[in-house]
Amino acid sequence: LKAKMIVDKAFRIDEVDPRIYGSFIEHLGRAVYGGIYEPTHSTADANGFRQDVKDLIKELQVPIIRYPGGNFVSGYNWEDGVGPVEERPKRLELAWRVVEPNYVGTNEFAKWAKELGTEVMMAVNLGTRGVDAARNLLEYCNHPGGTYWSDLRIKHGYKEPHNIKTWCLGNEMDGPWQIGQKTAEEYGRLAYETAKAMRLVDPDIQLVSCGSSSTGMPTFPEWEATTLEHTYEVSDFVSLHQYYGNRDGDSANYLARTMDMDHFIHTVISTCDYIKAKKRSKKKMFLSFDEWNVWYHSNDQDKKIDPWTIAPAQLEDIYNFEDALLVGSMLITLLRHADRVKMACLAQLVNVIAPIMTEEGGKAWKQTIFYPYLHASIYGRGTSLLPIVDSPKYDAQDYTDVPYLDSAAVYNEQKDEVTIFAVNRHLTEGLQLTCDVRGFEHYTIIEHIVLEHDDLKAGNSAHDEKVKPHSNGASELKDGYVTANLSKASWNVIRLK
Ligand code: AHR
Repeated sequence: LKAKMIVDKAFRIDEVDPRIYGSFIEHLGRAVYGGIYEPTHSTADANGFRQDVKDLIKELQVPIIRYPGGNFVSGYNWEDGVGPVEERPKRLELAWRVVEPNYVGTNEFAKWAKELGTEVMMAVNLGTRGVDAARNLLEYCNHPGGTYWSDLRIKHGYKEPHNIKTWCLGNEMDGPWQIGQKTAEEYGRLAYETAKAMRLVDPDIQLVSCGSSSTGMPTFPEWEATTLEHTYEVSDFVSLHQYYGNRDGDSANYLARTMDMDHFIHTVISTCDYIKAKKRSKKKMFLSFDEWNVWYHSNDQDKKIDPWTIAPAQLEDIYNFEDALLVGSMLITLLRHADRVKMACLAQLVNVIAPIMTEEGGKAWKQTIFYPYLHASIYGRGTSLLPIVDSPKYDAQDYTDVPYLDSAAVYNEQKDEVTIFAVNRHLTEGLQLTCDVRGFEHYTIIEHIVLEHDDLKAGNSAHDEKVKPHSNGASELKDGYVTANLSKASWNVIRLK
């Protein structure tokens, strides 16, 4: 099997916004309690946050983390999570049917994020609440002082404002599972009024308007068209959410799911541009793919969980090797849309459908999907180049003309490096790749990282890391051409300098 590709400085998509390597921490399952926060853990810092987990997040260089939800935010009273911890109420948390103890809230999270050098993408509750709670929270977080809410923050021990720049106007408001679900008209109006008030509090913030919860929603893409009629001028981004699973065990079809992700992004861009034209607007709307991942392994198990406990193990997908390939492909898809997708969040970060898992009182460990996310985050910064690809294709159950080679390339001018990311979707055959890189004179291959495994279903655990990358990829650069052997079903990172 052979594929050809051209990568050249002149074929630019756009600068990669580092925020496409964002992630997400929701008050859900063991993401916060027992995940990032475990005061009794041997590595816990003075504030009760696990240092071993922090170290893994640092390794991933996560630039922005969405918080506190997710479905959780649509029933959340943010005031419950600030002030003296012993006075904070325990609440019935309806999204995930647990008890929320509020040991961690806005201030603790903002402080933790700051220590990690990551930004916060804060979501406001537009399910059970609205304009008033949103503008108060923003005043609490960002106003320097001298007003009721900002002085309350100071009284709570946080003299400096958190200066949170990115705000989500609710979460998945199109979904029947959402507390306080809205019609597109209702949401559009509410989001517009909330945005208006929030911008009056702090004109420097960036706002994300809720798009569809997946391409499978019956209201997609009419939801985007109707809501953006209201929010186009007041928001900077529209959100996209999408999870995939291999429920019928058809791996060839599963690895082609990014065809759907690509269609999702195209459709949302088209809808944004249609509203732009309709409004005679000069503004370009950007996309925030602020929930994306594989999510299906834990679905059945989650149905058996008893309600009203604190931090049960929920959504704890244990990922396998093929999931890592799809996550790699999803990252490639984001990179190929670097001109419009300017933020994205791998959902989520710790324990809950996450690249990082923790044992209570024990180890923090890396799931299979940790690796493509790590490689893209570290090496995928700079300018996304448009790879001209000529690859053999296949037909799968739901998609036709699926290229075996899925690829993106990033040129880091500062470091004088080019990185080619490539997935070989063929399950049984290697792919001989010839890549024209003549535009990059004097470059050599510094590394060819490969993630491969004979068993598509192999996964990692706290004590056994079966799926991990090696740097022995077979490739060479001669006379301006890279030739590489991409093993069957593999994730490849070819770094040139
Ligand atoms: O990430 C898990 C959940 O998926 C989020 O709470 C919700 O927004 C989405 O449905």
